[in-house]
Amino acid sequence: MKISEQLWPRIVVLITSTNKEGKENVMTVSFVMPISFLPKYVGLAIAPSRVTLKNIKETKEFCLNICSEEMLEAAKICGSVSGNEKDKFIAAGLTKEKASKIKCPIIKESPISFECKVELIKKFGDHYLVIGKVLREVIRKDSFRPLLHKTREIFPSLK
Ligand SMILES: Cc1cc2nc3c(=O)[nH]c(=O)nc-3n(C[C@H](O)[C@H](O)[C@H](O)COP(=O)(O)O)c2cc1C
Repeated sequence: MKISEQLWPRIVVLITSTNKEGKENVMTVSFVMPISFLPKYVGLAIAPSRVTLKNIKETKEFCLNICSEEMLEAAKICGSVSGNEKDKFIAAGLTKEKASKIKCPIIKESPISFECKVELIKKFGDHYLVIGKVLREVIRKDSFRPLLHKTREIFPSLK
């Protein structure tokens, strides 16, 4: 059994990034964890095939945008196609906002966005652990129902 069918539910986030030429991308991630209160640090695990990992290695930045239940369709789209194939912001109907501390965009539909600077990228098994320091947070809603994930299922919050 896969670890992702054993450790669940996990919250779903959209990771925005840009490559060194400034091309923007967005990817769905549920291997995500809080690491530190003060300053805030977050950790992600990303597979080597992802455009997002290549972008993060190039620019050492990303934005973590938390998904609410209403973002289910966007999370499915951004988690099922590569940024090399299509503009997922358009496909998923996501609105880009300008970040203050980093160059990649943040997502207006998300209740909370963290602008992050990467401090560590290290391979563990078949994923890369990416640790980011939160330079700025944007809180659009302080109360929302998070989108949750178990492998092969994305579902509304547990009641
Ligand atoms: C709900 C959900 C959660 C996902 N979580 C992860 C994850 O934590 N790490 C990962 O590498 N891929 C994860 N994926 C798969 C990527 O989102 C997917 O391969 C995506 O197309 C990669 O985009 P990119 O190549 O444009 O960066 C997830 C997919 C879904 C639908």
